[in-house]
Amino acid sequence: MRGAQFPKGFLWGSATAAYQIEGSPLADGAGPSIWHRFVHTPGLVRDGDTGDVACDHYRRWADDVALMRRLGLQAYRFSISWSRILPAGTGAVNDAGLDFYERLVDALLENGIEPLVTLYHWDLPAALDDRGGWLNPEISKWFADYADVMYRRLDDRVKKWVTLNEPWVVSDGGYLHGALAPGHRNRFEAPIASHNLLRAHGAAVETYRATGHHEIGLVVNIEPKYRASEDPADVAATARAEAYMNRQYLDPVCLGRYPEEMAEIFGEAWPQWPARDLARIRQPIDFLGVNYYTRSVTRHDPNAWPLRACAVRQKQATYTETGWEVFPPGLTETLLWIKRRYGDIPLYITENGAAFFDPPTAKKGRVEDPLRVDYLREHIRAVHEAIRQGVDVRGYMVWSLLDNLEWSLGYSKRFGIVHVDFASLERTPKDSARFYAKVIATNGAVLEESPAAAS
Ligand code: BGC
Repeated sequence: MRGAQFPKGFLWGSATAAYQIEGSPLADGAGPSIWHRFVHTPGLVRDGDTGDVACDHYRRWADDVALMRRLGLQAYRFSISWSRILPAGTGAVNDAGLDFYERLVDALLENGIEPLVTLYHWDLPAALDDRGGWLNPEISKWFADYADVMYRRLDDRVKKWVTLNEPWVVSDGGYLHGALAPGHRNRFEAPIASHNLLRAHGAAVETYRATGHHEIGLVVNIEPKYRASEDPADVAATARAEAYMNRQYLDPVCLGRYPEEMAEIFGEAWPQWPARDLARIRQPIDFLGVNYYTRSVTRHDPNAWPLRACAVRQKQATYTETGWEVFPPGLTETLLWIKRRYGDIPLYITENGAAFFDPPTAKKGRVEDPLRVDYLREHIRAVHEAIRQGVDVRGYMVWSLLDNLEWSLGYSKRFGIVHVDFASLERTPKDSARFYAKVIATNGAVLEESPAAAS
């Protein structure tokens, strides 16, 4: 590999998620999801924002695919809304929902863009939440049945499937701290939700081996933990934080066991899980998707519930609009750590990006976002460094294609490389999109140029 050139066939793309961009959540027979309920509960989402319109991608998908083509994207990672396909979560299939995703996949392929399909990016059918949601052990079967509907309809065209996006966020945000749908705050529920997420992942992979012919994997968010000091309390706190966020899902999937620290963190709320569950969770996967945004420097904090660990703000660092430290070496370190701990599994960066304050409106068709250009340049270089050190990284997806609904932060945080004017819904590629288009066109060679020349 010469200079910053990436391996031949390296896949460059961008990522989105259904509820964050689609809008029209109840159109054409779709059932409500837990996010539809959550945003319509006063006080839960900043400024009362909802996904009722979002980026209106549900109606503008053809224009969005044309935009992706203009940027030269080679891949597009998106998610399926379960309740468009099965309005009640199980049972009757809604053909109109399937047709929407089928049209999208066909348009992507016609434009030479490879679809990466995520089956679950947090928008559980509300009807299943009524039956206990991720707390009901039946959910592994519900999920595998839904996955099977999708495999049967699209596996002839979709070559890369993802079961779950970031199970840690589903459990931590949805069941432990409650900032995300369904908004529970319960130490006893979070371990159960985590375990059922893993069981659902295992069941969907098992089903894929019977029905599908290509590749299936899991997407996890990894945030490397650096200890704030060598004080034994900080060392132990860092190990807990690392187990909770980075190993809680990967250890069961790749090694067939939970990290020991889980019982220490959850105490009496951590059950003894049956060995047969772990055997089914440990299904071989074809690739692992890694979402990387930041690191955390960790110290002991007796008041941080239930982890007894917290992040220490760094004085000399740059922080994004979501309060995350910009730390590109953490991405190289993450990729090397995965290889060391779990072996040579093919990896994709399935999300990486940043919210910065962008001008709210485009001026003369331009949006300048120099901090995002820098962020992308340095993180893509960090990926390159991991490849140089022998990690099998096969692709990179920017989060996100479009400014979109940043969950409970509403539209207040812009992650897109394409600006969306939420009044007119007009799309304007930001400078970061132009920069990324050059990265793709040169397969990374543009990263060798000085920042001024390259952006
Ligand atoms: C999620 C995205 C989210 C992004 C930025 C990831 O955790 O998969 O849906 O918008 O981070 O917060």
